[in-house]
Amino acid sequence: MSAPVSPRQSAWGHLMPEVRSLFPGAYADSPFPALCAEAFTAMAAVMPAGDLPRVPGWQGPAGYGEVLARYARLPEGPASDVAALVRDISTDLLAGTTLWRCPELQYNIGAAVNVAAAAAYALALDANVFLISDGQAGNAVLAEHAVAAILAGLAGIPRDQAHGVFTFGGTGTIMYAIKAGIRKAAPESVQSGLPLDVHVMVTRDAHFSHRAAADWLGIGASRVITVPAVARDRRTDVRAAGQILRERLDKGARIAAMLINGGTTYDHVVDDIAAFAGLRDQLVAEYRLSYRPHLHVDSVIGWGWLTLDDGALSGPGLGVPEETVASLREQHRRISQVRLADSWGVDFHKGIGGCPVDCSMVMFSDKADLGLLRKGAADEGSLHQLAAEFSSLSPVDYTLETARAGGKAIAALTALHSMGRAGFQAVLARLVDATRVLRGELAGMPGVTVLNGHSLGFATMVALAPPGMPAGAVQAMLTVPGKDAATAARRCNEYLKAFFAWDNGTRMNVNGGGAVYSYSSGYLPVPSGPVLGALKFYPTSPLITRQHMREAAALLSRRKAEFDASLPG
Ligand SMILES: Cc1ncc(COP(=O)(O)O)c(C=O)c1O
Repeated sequence: MSAPVSPRQSAWGHLMPEVRSLFPGAYADSPFPALCAEAFTAMAAVMPAGDLPRVPGWQGPAGYGEVLARYARLPEGPASDVAALVRDISTDLLAGTTLWRCPELQYNIGAAVNVAAAAAYALALDANVFLISDGQAGNAVLAEHAVAAILAGLAGIPRDQAHGVFTFGGTGTIMYAIKAGIRKAAPESVQSGLPLDVHVMVTRDAHFSHRAAADWLGIGASRVITVPAVARDRRTDVRAAGQILRERLDKGARIAAMLINGGTTYDHVVDDIAAFAGLRDQLVAEYRLSYRPHLHVDSVIGWGWLTLDDGALSGPGLGVPEETVASLREQHRRISQVRLADSWGVDFHKGIGGCPVDCSMVMFSDKADLGLLRKGAADEGSLHQLAAEFSSLSPVDYTLETARAGGKAIAALTALHSMGRAGFQAVLARLVDATRVLRGELAGMPGVTVLNGHSLGFATMVALAPPGMPAGAVQAMLTVPGKDAATAARRCNEYLKAFFAWDNGTRMNVNGGGAVYSYSSGYLPVPSGPVLGALKFYPTSPLITRQHMREAAALLSRRKAEFDASLPG
């Protein structure tokens, strides 16, 4: 006897009405906008007075089991009420997520999303644009070209000389750079794999993704050369770089790539790009290298300053005090040298970029370098042929990914066009100005030390002194070696971690009001040995005001006093 047939399976080709409705055949009657409206209404209902730093309802690990019990089983049949499902998923599974547009959120380098970019991205998601070739993506391929042309223009590189491709994140931009360097220094690697003499240079303050990317590409830690920073301003020491690289070259190393900073994660430090380009060329001449080490600037944050120009920096147009303009001018001068690098990264999902994650572009100042990454070189071009046969523009021929979301190119282009140059300038000036206000407010507070006063960026790193520690002790820790300084630094770290855990648990994670900042346990190595942790106040919302910063400073002082009073005497 055959098994009973469920009504849902009764006839081949019979689509249940609930399933049929999930795939509208015409934009004209698509329920997509209405479902988005349902989700937005549900979000507004949990935050009726306006957006909070986090979507309410997050219970943390204690509640994870319950949420998983609700969602981790595949239902037998289709949902009878899709609108309710979208509402529930929105509030259940976005609970606890940080909302970057909320000015109280000063959490990290995410981006407050520009709604025009989000709308354009959503449409591309619904159409499901595969950014593989124009044969699949049609004109969406041109969005990538247009963004690359705009970025080349901002950097002062002839538009027909540079080109860029979107990739999966800042980490992806670094992988591209290292891979291009490998192809330059060891062209035989395409046949025989990575030789053991291939090295990569990174900087002490680089984002950890630089080392991770080297690892993923087969360059072991012993072949990653780290160059120190100058303590005063944390810019990478070019002289030390020259010395260290020469030592390795003398031993027969090949230097595939030199990765430098175009805006570090916390201090937004931009290295002396021109000096590193000079060093690269000097090493080529001195050692008669058959290749040129690939110089990459990690400007995934620092690119934002490229939107400034002489007009904005010379008049009162930005509407911020002269000291802020001076800081913007200097950072702009530094990052403008990015045109001297072989490649550089841009993240639209960070800082002022205004796009949903992930939305990164790696720019090659000379598009011939991108050509080095063409797939199939080891197979005489036969590795991938489909795109070329059916398309005239075929980025998949040299992208790391095969399928890529077209939405990121569309979103970035929409962000650029909806903001215009002046829009980005205004947001950047506002963030830097608000940060200067915060640093000014914190400067005189007892027990509070701003660790990155040298930074031209918009994140503020703060250390707190435990009760009883003499005034000035934290400042001294930054320069003084020795055992006592090391003990004091460890004490500070323990205290700071405990303070953060307390403020997080009792206020920030539960939308208790006021600024929501975050914490890094590994911010700054001090001469006595330990690495200092820091609280980070990292605004990215265009809605930030000076008043938010004054309130954030006052709140920190109040919370510290409260915490100190709660400690055993
Ligand atoms: C300077 C810098 N480079 C690279 C990255 C990695 O970017 P992603 O997280 O988008 O891969 C980050 C992340 O914060 C960063 O700050």
